[in-house]
Amino acid sequence: MPNYENVFVMDHPLIQHKLTFLRDASTGTKHFRELVSEIATLMCYEATRDLPLEETEIETPMQKTKTKVISGRKLAFVPILRAGLGMVDGMLQLVPSAKVGHIGLYRDHETLKPVEYYNKLPQDIEERDVIILDPMLATGGSAVDAITIVKRSHPKSIKFLCIIAAPEGIKALTEAHPDVHLYCAAVDNGLNENGYIMPGLGDAGDRIFGTL
Ligand code: PRP
Ligand code: URA
Repeated sequence: MPNYENVFVMDHPLIQHKLTFLRDASTGTKHFRELVSEIATLMCYEATRDLPLEETEIETPMQKTKTKVISGRKLAFVPILRAGLGMVDGMLQLVPSAKVGHIGLYRDHETLKPVEYYNKLPQDIEERDVIILDPMLATGGSAVDAITIVKRSHPKSIKFLCIIAAPEGIKALTEAHPDVHLYCAAVDNGLNENGYIMPGLGDAGDRIFGTL
């Protein structure tokens, strides 16, 4: 059984409701894309819950008052291409100042092993807390490799945010990178013989980009 210590399952009713339509095979590309983005926004809200605050003083129309702002913490979002791209706009809705890096990985259909084809991260990533984005955590191979790639640039911290996780992927990620917090909206039953999550939602990249 995977170690769930650093695993956060976001079971908010709005997320669960949207996830139902995301899973539904009759949901078309436009609606699917909108749902991925909306779920990412809701998940971003939860995944940034630990951002530190600092006190500041402002003047309301009535009087001066002490209040709080996020304390200079810089974020970077790193989608795993392609499907992670679908989550970026939803994340930027809440944190428009975040920088965006990209890691290109695809799963070889025979071996199920990830193959790297692109890598561009923000230059100042050492000053940033990174949230890696991918809707699907299946075998975990892509997530483990993406985290390894990002770690080489020494960011302040790394979180991994996915929509659906398989227990196999959770096990692989938490064993390879026990320091990384994993956020997901659902933990599904497991993988089928082709490495697809069951019940899952099918191929996330194909459903986002209409390449079915
Ligand atoms: C999917 C998905 C993840 C990966 C998960 O991408 O978006 O990146 O598979 O599988 P894993 O946990 O077994 O590595 P895919 O390789 O289909 O590429 P795509 O996003 O370009 O379609
Ligand atoms: N990648 C997907 O897009 N879906 C799965 O179910 C597994 C990997």
